[in-house]
Amino acid sequence: MPVPHAPALFTFEFAADPYPAYAWLREHAPVHRTTLPSGVEAWLVTRYGDARQALADSRLSKNPVHHSEQAHRSGRVGIPGERSADLMTHLLNIDPPDHTRLRRLVSKAFTPRRVAEFAPRVQQLTDRLIDSFAERGSADLIHEFAFPLPIYAICDLLGVPPEDQDDFRDWAGMMIRHGGGPRGGVARAVKRMRSYLAELIHRKRSELTAQPLPGEDLISGLIRASDHGEHLTENEAAAMAFILLFAGFETTVNLIGNGTYALLRNPDQRALLQDSVRRGDTSLLATAVEELLRYDGPVELATWRFATTGLEIGGVEIPVGDPVLVVLAAADRDPDRFDGPDTLDLARRDNPHLGFGHGIHYCVGAPLARLEAQSALASLLTRLPDLHLAADPGDLRWRGGLIMRGLRTLPVGFTPELGTRPELPDV
Ligand code: HEM
Repeated sequence: MPVPHAPALFTFEFAADPYPAYAWLREHAPVHRTTLPSGVEAWLVTRYGDARQALADSRLSKNPVHHSEQAHRSGRVGIPGERSADLMTHLLNIDPPDHTRLRRLVSKAFTPRRVAEFAPRVQQLTDRLIDSFAERGSADLIHEFAFPLPIYAICDLLGVPPEDQDDFRDWAGMMIRHGGGPRGGVARAVKRMRSYLAELIHRKRSELTAQPLPGEDLISGLIRASDHGEHLTENEAAAMAFILLFAGFETTVNLIGNGTYALLRNPDQRALLQDSVRRGDTSLLATAVEELLRYDGPVELATWRFATTGLEIGGVEIPVGDPVLVVLAAADRDPDRFDGPDTLDLARRDNPHLGFGHGIHYCVGAPLARLEAQSALASLLTRLPDLHLAADPGDLRWRGGLIMRGLRTLPVGFTPELGTRPELPDV
């Protein structure tokens, strides 16, 4: 029987709901060569088994020098401005052995213990952000909540002084506003961030040399780890701080945004979660965040990979030099791996989703992302119990970027909470 034509990808309608198109690809063209909006040709991998295998395949390099086209060199793909700002040598652009060395360093600084100790600070930021709109009875949850929470949290964790954090908020705002749109503004923001980070690293290194007391922040941790045997150049340190900010920011915005939206559109599931968190039971909260990552996760496509040799994925020959994009959003709805994949089931136990990736590039910030999402969702549902959408779902707009999936705005209404202080967080 002739196979019908592939559905249109990367259109406005596709951005609003890409899942039917991914279901088609999984079934008819699970390893599919397509032309991206940038004009670059790439393979999309959509089945769970192929996706998991590709993410762990060492023949697929993360280093853009293996791309047969000049696209990375011309800046048509990749993070805008990273090349000109000299930030290319970060974890998502390199392979072992450099990746192993840098990953070991960041793992020493970014420990689960450090993240757990950070929980009260995340809760404080969450509370203050909700305070700032709780008396009003309405808010845009993206701009007033999901956006500032991760940026202040990562700045705190990295050790960016409070008086400089609003600059980061502005630069991050440039990135998120222009993602998928004009790249000049983003490139400028990346350059400013890069020179600020270089200066901050330099200052912290001098402070640590003058007074070797353990600084608790991540940048001091990285410098200390690198000063104890393993080498980290100042450029690599700046690239590391940059990728932690870049990878940890819009992703978490979208987990809170997409996650809240999914709960508001699935009232039965939301009621289950709301009842349990109001009783102080957090067991459902943990599986709920995993399910929200699977059901409508923030990272739609994993980052670029390039075939270093001719290889086969799902029976399809991939020529050397070709880019491969693993579609996490499609793999995580594969009916061959998940029962009822299009249903949101917050209590789902068998849930090895790929929302944080897989293999050696598995997300470094997963514990922090989980912490922030759990704090955000539990606080919203407890403090604003009748939270509801204040817009028709058909009127909501999704960002057009290739890698990330997230809403531009999320207007909500609720009964005003009395007695809160409408103020911005004390960062
Ligand atoms: C909900 C939030 C998040 C999601 C869904 C997410 C998802 C991912 C995914 C899918 C990857 C692998 C990409 C690939 O293999 O192509 C990744 C890698 C990474 N993530 Fe996250 N991330 C989140 C939050 C964070 C946070 C909060 C941080 C740090 C503050 C962070 C830092 C990183 C870094 C540094 C890498 C690269 C790791 C490596 O290459 O070894 N992420 N993340």
